[in-house]
Amino acid sequence: MATLKEKRTCGQRCQDFGHFVWNSDDGTFMGRTPEKWVYISLYYVAFYVVMTSLFALAIYVLMYTINPYTPDYQDRLKSPGVMVWPDTYNDEVLEITYNMSEKHSWMKMSECLTHFLKPYNDSTQHHCNIHNCTSGKYFFQHKFDGPKHTKWSCPFYQSTLGNCSGIDDPTFGYKTAQPCVIIKMNRVINFLPNNGTGMAPYVNCTVLEGHENVRGHVYYPANGTMDLSYFPYYGKLAQPTYVNPLVAVKFDLINQRHAKIQCRVMSKNIAYQNIYDPYEGKVDFYLTALS
Ligand SMILES: *[C@@H]1O[C@H](CO)[C@@H](O)[C@H](O)[C@H]1NC(C)=O
Ligand SMILES: *[C@@H]1O[C@H](CO)[C@@H](O)[C@H](O)[C@H]1NC(C)=O
Ligand SMILES: *[C@@H]1O[C@H](CO)[C@@H](O)[C@H](O)[C@H]1NC(C)=O
Ligand SMILES: *[C@@H]1O[C@H](CO)[C@@H](O)[C@H](O)[C@H]1NC(C)=O
Ligand SMILES: *[C@@H]1O[C@H](CO)[C@@H](O)[C@H](O)[C@H]1NC(C)=O
Ligand SMILES: *[C@@H]1O[C@H](CO)[C@@H](O)[C@H](O)[C@H]1NC(C)=O
Ligand SMILES: *[C@@H]1O[C@H](CO)[C@@H](O)[C@H](O)[C@H]1NC(C)=O
Repeated sequence: MATLKEKRTCGQRCQDFGHFVWNSDDGTFMGRTPEKWVYISLYYVAFYVVMTSLFALAIYVLMYTINPYTPDYQDRLKSPGVMVWPDTYNDEVLEITYNMSEKHSWMKMSECLTHFLKPYNDSTQHHCNIHNCTSGKYFFQHKFDGPKHTKWSCPFYQSTLGNCSGIDDPTFGYKTAQPCVIIKMNRVINFLPNNGTGMAPYVNCTVLEGHENVRGHVYYPANGTMDLSYFPYYGKLAQPTYVNPLVAVKFDLINQRHAKIQCRVMSKNIAYQNIYDPYEGKVDFYLTALS
């Protein structure tokens, strides 16, 4: 008996395939009529158009809700930290120690401050922050009135730091026992130091150890004030030329010329008793002048 399944030659297979691609008997192409193919294609075109537009819409909505000027994610830290310059550490403890009679020792301190104050150079500030700010008041800006769609920043001039500006005395007092330190409060976006009616924050330095070694200290600007016009801070994109207000303190060391100092920024909304963050609202440091 011959095999039931007739062995087919390669040529026949090709013919079958040809029939499948174009079947002239019932006018189908790949098993479907051209009409059907048009419907299928239309269906897929519509399907992909809908998918693409949904995807584009999602991206658009996402981009629209992300405002680059106000970060959605903000540091948990709501109360600003405080730092001191020169920022010389010894085992995580801030120790400002220098030898008055060793040039390279006091030069290290004064160079640190000179470098730190570079952005505050009077002529730089005069060029970059041209807005006339009204001191004693918050500088709220709801619009982007500054150049290139930004907000204005108030200038802070190095010369405001008087005898600690490094202009008259480039050694910042480190050649003597009257050194200057500079206190800076970190930026917190939209932070207001008080509820809007209070006075401006100010720096208050107290001697924690070695009272007998400190005759006194002077603040620059007067009373250690950080003017309200530097608040609120709107972020790096909105205020690219923003500079933190500074307060310099000149100490008058006597006797052993060694003391532990605490400088606190005093204001209603500035916390300072966070045991997990010793730099919140205040900074402690040792100040020592050797000879
Ligand atoms: C500020 O910058 C100008 C120009 O670069 C320079 O001449 C001047 O000495 C600088 N002032 C201080 C205090 O460094
Ligand atoms: C700022 O005020 C000064 C003096 O009052 C004035 O000469 C200057 O033109 C003002 N600048 C701007 C940008 O308003
Ligand atoms: C700055 O220092 C000079 C010289 O030591 C002194 O006469 C003057 O009173 C000081 N200025 C301020 C504002 O303390
Ligand atoms: C702001 O604080 C002052 C003094 O602490 C208080 O008298 C005033 O009622 C406060 N205002 C608001 C709006 O909370
Ligand atoms: C500075 O702090 C000390 C100690 O906390 C306090 O006794 C003093 O009244 C404060 N001075 C000012 C001007 O707030
Ligand atoms: C500094 O504080 C004193 C006393 O509170 C005040 O009389 C004086 O006007 C203040 N100076 C400045 C420049 O704010
Ligand atoms: C300070 O420098 C002088 C001069 O170099 C040196 O004689 C002295 O021992 C130094 N003092 C200390 C405490 O290192």
